[in-house]
This record gives sequence, C-alpha cells and structure tokens, in this order.
Amino acid sequence: MIKNSDRLSLERLINAVAFSSETIDQTNNNDVINGLSKYPKSIAAKYFYDDRGSELFEQICELPEYYPTRTETTILEAYAPEMATITGSCELVELGSGSAIKTRILLDAYQKLKYPLRYIPIDISAGILETSAFELLNDYPTLEVHGLVGTYELALQRLNKFGINPMLKRMLVFLGSSLGNLNPQECDRFFEQITGALQAGDYFLLGIDLHKSKALLEPAYNDAQGVTAEFNLNMLRHLNYRFNGNFDLAKFKHQAIYNEYQRQIEMYLQSQVDQTVELRSLNLTIHLEAGEKILTEISRKFDLTQLEQDLKNKGLNPVKTWRDSHHWFGMILCQQIG
Ligand code: TRP
Repeated sequence: MIKNSDRLSLERLINAVAFSSETIDQTNNNDVINGLSKYPKSIAAKYFYDDRGSELFEQICELPEYYPTRTETTILEAYAPEMATITGSCELVELGSGSAIKTRILLDAYQKLKYPLRYIPIDISAGILETSAFELLNDYPTLEVHGLVGTYELALQRLNKFGINPMLKRMLVFLGSSLGNLNPQECDRFFEQITGALQAGDYFLLGIDLHKSKALLEPAYNDAQGVTAEFNLNMLRHLNYRFNGNFDLAKFKHQAIYNEYQRQIEMYLQSQVDQTVELRSLNLTIHLEAGEKILTEISRKFDLTQLEQDLKNKGLNPVKTWRDSHHWFGMILCQQIG
C-alpha cells in the first residue's frame, strides 16, 4: 500500500512488473498456457493492458472510427446530473478506470450536488492508474482516491473487505462496453462478483454498445491509421516481455470481423507463416500454421431490452436507461435488490 497524501492511497493486488509467485500469477500463467494450447487458440484480453497497451487504447478512443467513447461521453454529459440525483450521495467504484476521463463527468455531477467525493478506481495497469489518480487529486480538491491495481476478480473480492460506511451507498461503474469483452460464462461469473461486492440498495452503472450495422462496427475495430492493429500486436510484445517469449510481431496480422450471428466483433492475430514460438518462462512451445488465427478479443453488441431482463435476473434491478440520439450506445443504471 502506498500512501501518497492523505487523500490518495494505491494498493497493488498484483505485481505489475512481472507475475511471480503470488496465487494470481499462477492463474494468469494457466490462462496463457491453456489459451495457446487449445484449438482455436486464444489469449485473454487482459494482456492488452500493459502500460503501452493502455496508452494505445487511449488513442483508439480518439479515433474517428471508434464511436463508442464519444457516444458514451455524450450520454454522460446529458444525463450525469440525473444519475447523481437518482443515486444520491455515494462512493464511486470504477472497474477498468483507465484515464478516468469519462468519470470526471460523473464526479462533476456529484460535486455540484455538494456530495463528498470518494473514488475507487480499479485498473490492471499501474501506470495509467497512478497518472490519472494524481491528475484527479489536482483537479478535485476534496476528492479522496483509493486505487486498486489488479484484475476485476481480485478487486471485487477486495472491495468486500473495505469497511463499509452504512450511510454511504456504493455505485459501481463499468463503462466503455467492457462487459461485451466477456463471453457468456465469464459474464455470469462477473455478475456474481459484482453482486458480491454490492449491498442491497447499491447501484451499478453500465455502459454498453448496441447492435448496429457491420459497416459502422468493423471500421471501429480496424481503423485506417492502424492504431487498433498496433494495439492488438502489442499483446504479443507484452507476452514476450512477461514470459520471455519470441513472438515475431512482423509475422502476424491484425484482423477484426463482425460475426452477425453471434453479434460480436472478433479480433484475431493471424499468423502469416508456419512458425514455432516459445514462451520460455512458461516452458511452452506453440506451433502456428500459415493463416491460423489467435482470438484476442470479442466485443459483444447488445440489445437493451434483453440486457435489462438479464440484469434483473441477476439481482440488479434496472432503474433507468439512457441512449444517444442514434441509439448506438446505452447506459443502464441498476440497483441491487435486497
Ligand atoms: N471495451 C472495448 C470495446 O469492446 C475494448 C476495445 C475497443 C478494444 N477497441 C478495441 C479491444 C480494440 C481490443 C481492440 O469496444
């Protein structure tokens, strides 16, 4: 635990530099081994977000083709005051906080209502978490920040153990349609962890990307400048670094396709040649054929009514839903059932 000032503390739930002997590290290593040993091959999406990956992701959010960030921002700008009024005073917990730029719109709304500002950002990248926490402290003179560096799973477990002030409700914020990056089984587990970290009456604010045409969706994940391609390939560099590997990035190509049947973007790294790759610290050797694809991410696109129903079934009662004027993106505010 680092205490940088009386308004900031940062806690590392994982070793951000190199996964070593902690339990989480074992799980992570298994993720990589299992994902690359099965067919079709895959790599868990959390490996995107080393510090370089988080930086590239910030650039993706600014791309002309990548509409979700901008669209979610317009919804927050229009409705954050209403959200704050509905929830009343509460501490904000954010999963995958990143640069926390969108969060500021919420903080502004709570500040305007003169509520005490307490923010618990959670991110797997220590670098971006630290930078954004310092910036927030500067800009919000009464804000208290308690940052957690770790996976969603570890952080949600940890949240349980915080001394809960019974007077202060909690609002868990999950923006950017990151829910869509979980497959249905992961989603179920995730919701169990969410409801485990909340008490009856607490809120959950979810931003989600909605189903739309392929013509709009595919360019958002395959931009003209190639930033998304770089982001995708950076995952291999990250694995090389973490596991003493020898992926040659030049031998892979980024690919993003919208699977209309499953309503999900699928991002792949496609091997351009027959090749053998080693991750020495995992004792892992993998073979790839020319044209073989490694799945690195899915991004599911949702139907609002369906998702509201699913949330309700999970014990999270939708209180109010907002959309942008094109109906490209939605935000659902839910409240945990008692
Ligand atoms: N949650 C984001 C999304 O599904 C994550 C994301 C956006 C992303 N662009 C990406 C992940 C490109 C990998 C590659 O839209």
